[in-house]
Amino acid sequence: MAQIIDGKAISAKVKAQVREEAALLKKQGIEVGLAVVIVGNNSASRVYVNNKKKACEEVGFTSYEYALSEETTQQELLELVEKLNKDDKVNGILVQLPLPNQINENAVINAILPEKDVDAFHPENVGHIMIGDFNFLPCTPAGVMELIAETGVDVCGKNCVVIGRSNIVGKPMAMLLLHKNGTVTICHSRTKNLAEICSKADILVAAVGKAKFVTPDMIKEGAVVIDVGMNRNEDGKLCGDVDYAACFDKAGYITPVPGGVGPMTIAMLMKNTLTAAKIKNNIQ
Ligand code: GUN
Repeated sequence: MAQIIDGKAISAKVKAQVREEAALLKKQGIEVGLAVVIVGNNSASRVYVNNKKKACEEVGFTSYEYALSEETTQQELLELVEKLNKDDKVNGILVQLPLPNQINENAVINAILPEKDVDAFHPENVGHIMIGDFNFLPCTPAGVMELIAETGVDVCGKNCVVIGRSNIVGKPMAMLLLHKNGTVTICHSRTKNLAEICSKADILVAAVGKAKFVTPDMIKEGAVVIDVGMNRNEDGKLCGDVDYAACFDKAGYITPVPGGVGPMTIAMLMKNTLTAAKIKNNIQ
């Protein structure tokens, strides 16, 4: 039977630490600010953005929300980013993805000042992550690493399999596991023998975007199973990429959805925003 990795509890610990540091900064007259930009009416994005704003309140940051219409042009969004780049009250800028089709996401990401890019999506930050010399880690993969650390399982020398190759999760996830000396395989929609490869993983990270994609035959007995998925099932209920109930007995450790990776992503965003404020103010 698996041990549940409690993302809610672990994220609360991270946020408590951030809150403590933010309070110390406040005593020095430094207010930490995060700008959150949402474009259009994506209901999932709305939930994520609300959660990010709520987390800012919890840790004592000021959040600035910019909710733009679905019809916003790329030029208008770039002008807002430019304004936020110059705004001293704003330490971090988060533009919630996906963006409507008329806007090129890369153009927007590239426009965010790397030192305010608390998502770590800017190519300069991606390069720093690749090299292993970084200020910000991408929030979801960094959160996953915290969850793995909490199990006490050492990544060094382990077979690690990541399902999914997105720029936001799959690719940086593989890099962070590699930094910890894991032997890393990235699987994706064209992978042959995907189930067999997954079944050899000591640590399996699923970031596919398909409900119940990972079934018990795909996991090794005792494996650490991390579910990054955020899907809705037939009843509209939130569920991950892993068939949780079916895999529970075989996995060694497993993350629930909700209450696993999701809260960690937000906690790591708070940590990155704090880091941005500290760097700006030359505080170690
Ligand atoms: N959309 C889904 N995940 C993320 C994230 O971590 N950051 C941003 N900006 N958009 C997202």
